[in-house]
Amino acid sequence: MGTPGLVLLWLQLCALTRAAHKFWVPNTYFDTATNWNQNRTPCTGDAVQFPVDKMVSVLVRDNYAISDMLLPQDGELVLASGAGFSAAEAGSDSACDSGAPLLFHNPDRFSWLDPHLWRSGNEPRLFSVDAERVPCHADDVLFPNDASFRVGLGPAASLVQVRSVSALGQTFTRDEDLAALLRSRAGRLRFHGPGSLRVGSSACADPSGCVCGNAEMLPWICAALLQPLGGRCPPATCLDALRPEGQCCDLCGAVLSLTHNATFDLERYRARLLDQFLSLPQYQGLQVAVSKVPSADTEIQVVLAEARPETGAAGRLGRALLEDAAGPGRGFGVLSAALRLSGAPAAGSAEEQDALRPRAGLAVGVVAAVLLALLGSVLLLHRSGRLRWRRDREAEPASIGLPRGFHNPIFDLMSSKEQPSVELPSPSSKVDSNASLSYFVNPLFAGEAEAEA
Ligand SMILES: *[C@@H]1O[C@H](CO)[C@@H](O)[C@H](O)[C@H]1NC(C)=O
Repeated sequence: MGTPGLVLLWLQLCALTRAAHKFWVPNTYFDTATNWNQNRTPCTGDAVQFPVDKMVSVLVRDNYAISDMLLPQDGELVLASGAGFSAAEAGSDSACDSGAPLLFHNPDRFSWLDPHLWRSGNEPRLFSVDAERVPCHADDVLFPNDASFRVGLGPAASLVQVRSVSALGQTFTRDEDLAALLRSRAGRLRFHGPGSLRVGSSACADPSGCVCGNAEMLPWICAALLQPLGGRCPPATCLDALRPEGQCCDLCGAVLSLTHNATFDLERYRARLLDQFLSLPQYQGLQVAVSKVPSADTEIQVVLAEARPETGAAGRLGRALLEDAAGPGRGFGVLSAALRLSGAPAAGSAEEQDALRPRAGLAVGVVAAVLLALLGSVLLLHRSGRLRWRRDREAEPASIGLPRGFHNPIFDLMSSKEQPSVELPSPSSKVDSNASLSYFVNPLFAGEAEAEA
């Protein structure tokens, strides 16, 4: 079978098993402005600092002329082909404000349980309730191909379960294989925290849909979701707001609960909702979530969320779907339907309502800003005209008792030759299947850590 045949087979299998994918969004690129405390990448003459007591793998894709770099206690810089570092005098670029060192944000700030940090290939009109924005038991999870990411696995009591995890060029479907990855150095650079991660649950083979399976995790999911808002839901802009199953906060609109027989097909129902209802002009501005909910195995929850309760569009669509369930919807296997509606618009501004809509970028930014404030208090500024690579021991009282830092061979190389511009060597082991990356591993660190143990 040729490649097109394989692709076709794979697509058919996906359709057959309702395979759903969730993509991890945040990265740990050197080149991503939001990974730095001043929301910009280093410019000429900057001193840059990584959090001293964190582990991280950082992909560098561009060229940087910097005056100083404070490395983390453990970690790696992975240079893409063409990327490099060179030395520049501090303050040599007057257009670049290098008064204070540029701090790399805490790479531990991203939690698996945060719905903001996942993307699924949804239609724009369809959304998922918060519990289902985080990977469900039957989902396949994909991390960035270039492996520049770091994810916290949640608190000790949390057990994350998915069908498969694709990371570092491999797809893990067996717990033994995944456990080996998590124990390895590459795994420890990218996955951390006391929570458990398991793979190998089966794909959803039921055409009527499968329960996501995150109900027990909902308190943690909501805590992560609402952290940028101080842990509290924004006020709803309608009276008698509804709390759908799996959602963290009340919303305005309608919730339709369906029971069905064995003919019911969730994908077909969703497609029909999009084609025959949501495409109509009177329902513009409505967003719909359709999923099987844990309360009863035959119950399908249809959430109609409206940004502007005053239009009443959710109520109209809810009633239309109720009629449909008693008419043409029967042919799709719908047995019964019940509708709940939120109340009249509350006296509130449109801006408040805007705050209810998920906005990943903003939320991540706020988390980052909070962490920056924490970080800033423990890192010490060092300025020097010479490019140096080092780990600063006095700078970080919290690091006492942790394994000692390492000498970076590049430092010796650079300072001994006194070159103004140095390309880092690109040695040994490979990280990525696309072969454009070289992998930099500090051989001295492992030796020192063992010697101390
Ligand atoms: C489900 O209900 C529909 C409508 O009543 C009917 O046509 C269909 O045969 C039923 N399916 C099963 C498997 O009972």
